Amino acid sequence: MKTVTCTAPVNIAVIKYWGKRDTGLILPTNDSLSVTLSQDILHSKTTISAAKEYSHDRLWLNGKEEDITKNKRMHNCFRETRALRQQLEQDAAQRGETLEPLSSYHVHVCSENNFPTAAGLASSASGLAALVFTLAKLFDLTNNMSELSRIARQGSGSACRSLFGGFVAWEMGSKDDGSDSLAVQVAPETHWPELEALICVVSDEKKGTSSTEGMQHTVNTSPLLQHRIKEVVPVRMAEMKKAIHERDFQTFAALTMKDSNQFHAVCLDTYPPIFYLNDTSRAIMKIVHEYNATSPDGKLKAAYTYDAGPNAVIYAPKENMREIIQLIAHYFPGSADNYFVDPYKLFTSTQDLVSDFKPAGHAAFNENSIPVFPAGSVSRLLHTKTDDGPRVLGQEESLLNEQGLPKRVSA
Ligand code: DP6
Repeated sequence: MKTVTCTAPVNIAVIKYWGKRDTGLILPTNDSLSVTLSQDILHSKTTISAAKEYSHDRLWLNGKEEDITKNKRMHNCFRETRALRQQLEQDAAQRGETLEPLSSYHVHVCSENNFPTAAGLASSASGLAALVFTLAKLFDLTNNMSELSRIARQGSGSACRSLFGGFVAWEMGSKDDGSDSLAVQVAPETHWPELEALICVVSDEKKGTSSTEGMQHTVNTSPLLQHRIKEVVPVRMAEMKKAIHERDFQTFAALTMKDSNQFHAVCLDTYPPIFYLNDTSRAIMKIVHEYNATSPDGKLKAAYTYDAGPNAVIYAPKENMREIIQLIAHYFPGSADNYFVDPYKLFTSTQDLVSDFKPAGHAAFNENSIPVFPAGSVSRLLHTKTDDGPRVLGQEESLLNEQGLPKRVSA
């Protein structure tokens, strides 16, 4: 039996992917660009074992067994990685060498997120990236990350960007077979370590429209999407890459907010419209704009972005993070002990986080433009930063026991 365990990170786009030109191969209608967030607080962890004795492929997701044959996207990832392994085995045979015939073995897959899937924090991206990366390690594939991203893309579009750390572009490509629709690293995480992120988990009772479903309604009905694809994204991609290379937070921040807003505008332009933002999301946008208005030299100090849900991700230089966290905690008080998660320990206690807050001290901050929200409107605040790509863990981290069964199962 061969067993490998890996983790993969979450990525949050600053130029959004929204729309497919091929739904089977998952080929997008525009390029996109994301920032990879630290796995210290958010990651998907996957263990895969392959053994001659296994009778069929099995999958456990967050402690529950799932029917792997029903998951077409995962099946595509298996098929593609097994084909690459088979090629390695055949090449070895031609050289007169023998490789263990792993491509013909069944596998057991066990995967967990260290954050609740329901929080809507891009779990498909990290989950599918972890699956493909772990399969590649299990099969000793020699392909580079961009080649693997072609496979991860077929699991979930945004997953292809979670194979790299730092700043990552998904180039849409133009070929019908998708061979040039790949992720590439724009800059590693070490390039701009001062860039940090605050994830505001916004409570949302109702179940929203999934990205997969929502984006095709947009493709089919939104004239604004066509303008975005043709005119807006190509220009923004070039500007965003330049801003990242030059660590130019002003351009980065303005483009990030505008692109998030345009993504939600095309959702509204979809017929019938799709709504992902709620009142809390919009209040956070307002706070960020008010906060930026306090800057004496007019420079932007923070930028928000929202995916297909109400959660906000605020990007900002490290030096502004303390103030930003205080602002958010003031207007959106926590109601639970685990409200604030901060591996970087900016505050000694949750108390300290609110007691320091002095909005009046900020010259232009219009304190009354936003009400203080009921406790729990933002359920969690997670302080994180840009960080590395997938990691290989030691055997002691395995989620499967010696029989190839999950160590932990939930009811
Ligand atoms: C709003 O990658 O989840 O987060 O390819 O259908 O699996 P599928 O969709 P998915 O869509 C992500 C959309 C987004 C924007 C982004 O991450 O770029």
